[in-house]
Amino acid sequence: MRIDVLTLFPNIFEGYLSESLVKDAIDRGILEVNLYNMRQWAHDKHNTMDDRPFGGGPGMVLKVDRVVPCVEEILSYDQRPSRVILTTPQGRTLTQRVVEELACEQRLTILCGRYEGFDQRVIDILQPDEISIGDYVTNGGEVAATVIIDSVMRLLPGALGDDQSAVVDSFSSGNRLLEEDQYTRPREYRGLTVPEILLSGDHGLIEKWRDLKRLEKTFFRRPDLLDDSTFGN
Ligand code: ADE
Repeated sequence: MRIDVLTLFPNIFEGYLSESLVKDAIDRGILEVNLYNMRQWAHDKHNTMDDRPFGGGPGMVLKVDRVVPCVEEILSYDQRPSRVILTTPQGRTLTQRVVEELACEQRLTILCGRYEGFDQRVIDILQPDEISIGDYVTNGGEVAATVIIDSVMRLLPGALGDDQSAVVDSFSSGNRLLEEDQYTRPREYRGLTVPEILLSGDHGLIEKWRDLKRLEKTFFRRPDLLDDSTFGN
């Protein structure tokens, strides 16, 4: 998958992209991420990307005549069609369903918002998929872009060492239960012991116990996730 990120702060992504599973996926050619500083598309001597809002009010607005040419040029760098995403608290909420949908694309172009947002004509012209990572406001869309990249890359074939781990994740399709508690050695620490059943070697029984624990945890913490389908209806 190719992901192009358009931002005023490309350095925010550098550490994230150079560690762990994301770095591995990039090194192995499963994921390509290109960072573009939108300011390169500001052609005046002050590199102006934003301006005061018409009608007054606080904050600055990202300019349509800077942003649209920038996105159009970047889209032209690859002939594969791309979904254009705009990160904004006004967007539809990112859920695992949305992540699964995005993971089916060959290419994503993510536009990171800043300041008070974009001139509405950016949205009218580009018709982006506006995505929010939740009902709170971060300083800009870069954190949201990182969350999108991170959750989508987990679903790319071969991106995780063990192909199964994305499938059994909480919230993946067909699994709307939270994960059960996990234990490893030592068997006892500060008087706290590992549930006896996990040491029994009876894998059938262990699986049943885990199913029950997932259900129990979900019931107490996130009852909103349970519906008839949880019980096979
Ligand atoms: N920019 C600021 N807050 C955001 C949010 N919650 N989701 C996406 N982009 C954002």
